[in-house]
Amino acid sequence: MEIIILPTPEDVGRVAADLISSVVKAKPTAVLGLATGSSPLDIYHSLATRVAAGELDVSQASGFALDEYVGIPLEHPESYAAVIARDVVGPLGMDPAKVRVPDGRALDIEAATAEYDAAIAAAGGVDIQILGIGANGHIGFNEPTSSFASRTRIKTLAPETRAANARFFDDPADVPTHCLTQGLGTILDAHRVVLVAQGAGKAAAIAAAVEGPLSAMCPGSALQLHQHATIVIDEAAAAELTLSEYYKYTYANKPAFQRFE
Ligand code: GLP
Repeated sequence: MEIIILPTPEDVGRVAADLISSVVKAKPTAVLGLATGSSPLDIYHSLATRVAAGELDVSQASGFALDEYVGIPLEHPESYAAVIARDVVGPLGMDPAKVRVPDGRALDIEAATAEYDAAIAAAGGVDIQILGIGANGHIGFNEPTSSFASRTRIKTLAPETRAANARFFDDPADVPTHCLTQGLGTILDAHRVVLVAQGAGKAAAIAAAVEGPLSAMCPGSALQLHQHATIVIDEAAAAELTLSEYYKYTYANKPAFQRFE
């Protein structure tokens, strides 16, 4: 794992966007793994600014979202299909036909989730997966006790996740109880992964994911098994890491030619 600790949340978004830009510039048809939630918003803003300035073209790239709620209509403003369209596809000028979100309304969930994993594989796999992390350590909607081998499937949302996401809904009771999410095994298949986190509320989850034991109780710890995972966090989210000085030293002394390789 590469751990990059930066002063501000804006720095986190910019540096993670640098990484994603470098992937898309090297491969304009790159497959992007798209995350929702607040954490990646600065990444999308930073990428959108580059697109608007003519410095980056994402129109040939394709995308697969991490997850989707079950039980809310597609046109609901908080369905992840709507969020991805609004926050990512539009601002980045991606081709909507090339971006997929798991189908939370599928009648045959098992077939739909198996087909989703098959579609990712058929696209050649995800070139770079963007991730946030929940305060309970979840990535995607892989809640604690998710198998490290899991594939895209239906999950029950943890009570703390429903509470955290209540801010997006008029009534906390409106937060769906179930979701479809790429599995930890699906996420680990991505060619590279960039996880971003900001703020003190993520400090314990980051410490558990980066320095804790491999444990299904912290699904983010599965990233320790990935060959090419980059964790970009601000000082507040880094507060509970025991080796933060070492990570800063390592990043400051990284040979220029290795940056984002
Ligand atoms: C959400 C999403 C995750 C996200 C996490 C943290 O519910 N399913 O993909 O990383 O929880 O959310 P946020 O970035 O808003 O803190």
